[in-house]
Amino acid sequence: MEISPFVMGLPKVELHLHIEGTLEPELKFELAQRNGITLPFDTPEQVRESYDFDDLTSFLHTYYDGMNVLRTSEDFYDLAMAYFAKVATQNLRYVEIFFDPQAHTSRGISFDTVISGLRRAQIEAEQKFGITSALIMCFLRDLQPEYAMATLLESLPYKHWILGVGLDSDENGNPPSKFAAVFARAKAEGYLLTMHCDIDIPGSIDHIETVIHEIGVARIDHGTNIVENPELVKTIVERGIGLTSCPISNTWVSEGTKVELVKQLMAEGVKVTINSDDPAYFGGYIAENFQRVADEGQVSDEFLAQLAHNAVDISWAPAVLKAELHGEIDQYLAQA
Ligand code: ADE
Ligand code: ZN
Repeated sequence: MEISPFVMGLPKVELHLHIEGTLEPELKFELAQRNGITLPFDTPEQVRESYDFDDLTSFLHTYYDGMNVLRTSEDFYDLAMAYFAKVATQNLRYVEIFFDPQAHTSRGISFDTVISGLRRAQIEAEQKFGITSALIMCFLRDLQPEYAMATLLESLPYKHWILGVGLDSDENGNPPSKFAAVFARAKAEGYLLTMHCDIDIPGSIDHIETVIHEIGVARIDHGTNIVENPELVKTIVERGIGLTSCPISNTWVSEGTKVELVKQLMAEGVKVTINSDDPAYFGGYIAENFQRVADEGQVSDEFLAQLAHNAVDISWAPAVLKAELHGEIDQYLAQA
């Protein structure tokens, strides 16, 4: 995909990025070799060609399968550094990174192994690339709430490294209410709250209503099905609850990018943002997702800059950093 100089240079913020979803086939092979694991493929190209998911469940199967090569703290460090190096070329300025501890602790990899590797990469990326980042710990909604609660308790010694909690994995049959007690405890511990409300899931709109009114999330990951209920749209505009939309990801798990919905919701005053979700699997990092919006939505540079401003607004970055990022975007647009 050809990315315009404007999109490439625009200072950007990413709020919906699963670090395990940045595992490119080349690194998969490297880590497999280092850890003495045999992959059922001969080349990275073969791995790429095997990606033919068409819904959330089939994607998740491939996604969890791929993680098996992540074993040591160094592996998690390498994973995150590869991501930072890639998006440093796309002028990513700040990122809130999802990680899935249960996808690793369930395989016998310790919580400390995962988070210490990620943390080391975050510190180095700030120095090397000038990218500031934070971690959001996600619970896997297709597992039991007791396991999520145990993970929450396990995270507490690392609380100063984790900004908030999220909910991901297979939403089918796993409504947000299943995790109400876990999220109430997370909030009491000082974590900020977000949850996935994936695209076109049976019960999407009920799930969105629950996360707003019962869970009390600060933002919603995906969530564009909210257009089906104008009352709820009004509520999130009033409360400043934003949506983290992922255009390229949407094409793999449902139909189309939903860019028209992004435009509609923006026109209604919703703070929508553009994100990449699982770039190594869906084939697009932050800049490719912005470009997809530009190409398909035929929107102006001002509109793209507004999407970047929205991400700053609904991010959980410190106020000083937010002011700095808004300034960078304004200055960039003024000179474009
Ligand atoms: N885990 C990684 N990517 C996800 C997505 N898009 N939805 C739910 N769980 C995920
Ligand atoms: Zn996601």
